Amino acid sequence: MSTPARKRVAVLVSGGGSNMAALIAAAADPAFPAEIVRVICNRPDAGALAKAAAAGVETVIIDHRSYSDRETFDAAVDAALVAAETDIVCLAGFMRLLTPGFVEKWRDRMINIHPSLLPSFKGLHTHARALEADVTLHGCTVHFVRAEMDMGPIIVQAAVPVIDGDTAETLAARVLAAEHRIYPQALAAVASGRAVVDGERVVHTGGGEPPAAFVWPPA
Ligand code: GRF
Repeated sequence: MSTPARKRVAVLVSGGGSNMAALIAAAADPAFPAEIVRVICNRPDAGALAKAAAAGVETVIIDHRSYSDRETFDAAVDAALVAAETDIVCLAGFMRLLTPGFVEKWRDRMINIHPSLLPSFKGLHTHARALEADVTLHGCTVHFVRAEMDMGPIIVQAAVPVIDGDTAETLAARVLAAEHRIYPQALAAVASGRAVVDGERVVHTGGGEPPAAFVWPPA
């Protein structure tokens, strides 16, 4: 039986690109069901660009400041995705709001990682807000993207303990380590067809264990 073709994935980034690097590292395994074909970045000075280039992944800079509105910027991103014959889009620290038309076009083919246990703490400064709220468990979520910010069917979550004395920075570092674990898990589940959207929830099918939420670091 022939091996199914690996899905072609483009990663959209704005910053340091550590999640992007985790996806590239996972996809270096030929058994991983997706390959990272292109990294698209809206900031010419983003650290992600050098990391992607060092890993041999093609980079494209689409500077949002060169576009008069969100529609024309999103059209340029869409053209770069289509040109790379993209099957799946991964947002990895991509700090631009996407227009509803763009999101709809990539519906159920675009996923995002967010540093909280959604639906808690949508938006920015999630770690400081989690500390402020005195929660004892925080974490991260990979979800399909919908037009409303940080909304959409959840694919995988990881729970991370809040530890006495945590600052936003120490908590962020613990969550980021969990992000690097679950983003490749979630992409593998989507790319292999084991995680599919049914209604507005994700169903894990096709045998094998669904990607499990876990507490990081393990006891
Ligand atoms: C991550 O915490 C991600 O969840 C959030 O932005 C951060 C990006 O970090 N959306 P990196 O660029 O992947 O290192």
